[in-house]
This record gives sequence, C-alpha cells and structure tokens, in this order.
Amino acid sequence: MGLQAKPYLQRITALFGDDIDWERHPYSVPAVRNLESISFHPDVTFFIGENGAGKSTVLESIALALGFGIDGGNKNISLNTASERAPLQHALRLSRSFRTPRDGYFFRAESFHNVSTHMDELWERDSASAESLHARSHGEAFMAVLLNKFKGRGLYLLDEPEAALSPNRQLAALTAIHQLVEEESQFIIATHSPILLAYPNAKILLFDGTGISEVAYEDTEHYSVTRDFLNHYPRRLEQLLKPE
Ligand SMILES: Nc1ncnc2c1ncn2[C@@H]1O[C@H](COP(=O)(O)OP(=O)(O)OP(=O)(O)O)[C@@H](O)[C@H]1O
Ligand SMILES: [Mg+2]
Repeated sequence: MGLQAKPYLQRITALFGDDIDWERHPYSVPAVRNLESISFHPDVTFFIGENGAGKSTVLESIALALGFGIDGGNKNISLNTASERAPLQHALRLSRSFRTPRDGYFFRAESFHNVSTHMDELWERDSASAESLHARSHGEAFMAVLLNKFKGRGLYLLDEPEAALSPNRQLAALTAIHQLVEEESQFIIATHSPILLAYPNAKILLFDGTGISEVAYEDTEHYSVTRDFLNHYPRRLEQLLKPE
C-alpha cells in the first residue's frame, strides 16, 4: 500500500477529559457528546443534519484546530470579530497526511463580508486589475473566491456555501469543486443543498440525536424531501397550507 498524500486531514479524534460539563454547550449537543472520531474522505466530506445538530460547531472547531481564524478566510486572516464559541478544538487530535496542503480557506457565510474587506486589501496588492469583492453580490463574491482564490492542493472548509448561490451557481460550484479535487484538494462542507450533496466522490455524515453516521445520497432527507416536494408540490402545498 503506497503512501497517500490525500486526505490531508485524515481523521479527528475527540479526547474528552474528566472535567467536562456535559450539560453545557458544546458538549450538550448529541453529535459532540457522542463524538469519538471522524475519518475524512480524500476528496469531499459533507456534514448534514437538522438545524442545531452541531455541524457548524464541529466544523468551526476543526478550523480552529487547523489554525484558521474564527472569522474564516485563509490562515493569514485573523479578524476575531466573531465570538469564539467552542472550546472543543482543544479536545481534538488531528491525524494528518505527510503532505501539508499548499492552500486553505475556511468559509462562513456570516463573516464573509468582513473577510472580503480584508481580502480586498490583500487582493489589490497581488493583482492590480482584480475587482473589489464588495462590488459583487454575495454569491458573485463567493464564486470569485472559489474560482480565483482557491489555488488547488488545498484543504477547504465551507459552512453552507449554498447560502449565497442560485441553483445555477450551485451547479457551477460542483464543477469548480471537482476541478479543485482533481488538483489534489480536499473539502469538508456543511450543507443543506441537495445539489451539492450529489457530488459523487464524497462521504456524507449525518449529525443527529444519536451522533454522527454515514449515509448514502439517496437516503438523505435532502434528496427525498426535495424530490417528493418537486414531484407533488400542488398536493404537498394543499396539505401544508390547509386551514386548521
Ligand atoms: N455559544 C453558544 N452557546 C450555547 N449554545 C450554542 C452556542 N452556539 C450554538 N449553540 C447551540 O448548539 C447547537 C448546535 O449549533 P450549530 O450552529 O453547530 O448547529 P448547525 O448544525 O450548524 O445548525 P444549522 O444547520 O442551523 O447551521 C444548537 O442547538 C445551538 O443553539
Ligand atoms: Mg450551521
């Protein structure tokens, strides 16, 4: 068996001490309480699950453990405007490849605006013709980062990238992600998007009340609920909107 460069981040293992207060956030979240280890796909690992299931909490603590700033961006950015909410990163042990990624980015929709301001400053320095990210819409700015700033051979953590993207742009994002994967990149993506989740070279991890488990694309609610709704929406609307 040969040495594999990817995944750059192979596994995280939780080592919880005896002093943990299981009643308090983030340990009260079932996906965190039951977290033993997560093994990552060399290409793409998706985190899915209900709102509040703990996806952002775990993604953020991985990002912090890897050395990203709490606001996201690349590792040169440390704005510290977002409040640090999880002490979880200190309990994570990271297993990494012998090869260090050359590029990296932690995308969070909520602080992308602040990070863009900072990137504008850096970007202007490295290319005179680059347009300001602020002269673009939210989705355009994110696509510009995905297409122009992600260089390949990178480890990219994205929290709900679809929040900014139209359905067509989500399809374009699949193409961009695939190209970066072919250029030896690894992604970890928290998402609710049934489009992004269809990416085939991926592992889907479902966060729920019992912990974290792997599921197949067609067994996700994202796939079945969306498909059912689109196929039967007049009836589903009747059921959903009927008077009490
Ligand atoms: N600072 C905090 N203090 C206490 N509880 C918190 C804090 N931050 C988040 N939580 C709680 O932790 C749980 C997990 O939140 P998290 O943001 O990780 O969910 P998520 O899976 O990313 O959800 P979504 O799909 O809505 O983004 C939620 O119940 C949330 O209310
Ligand atoms: Mg979240």
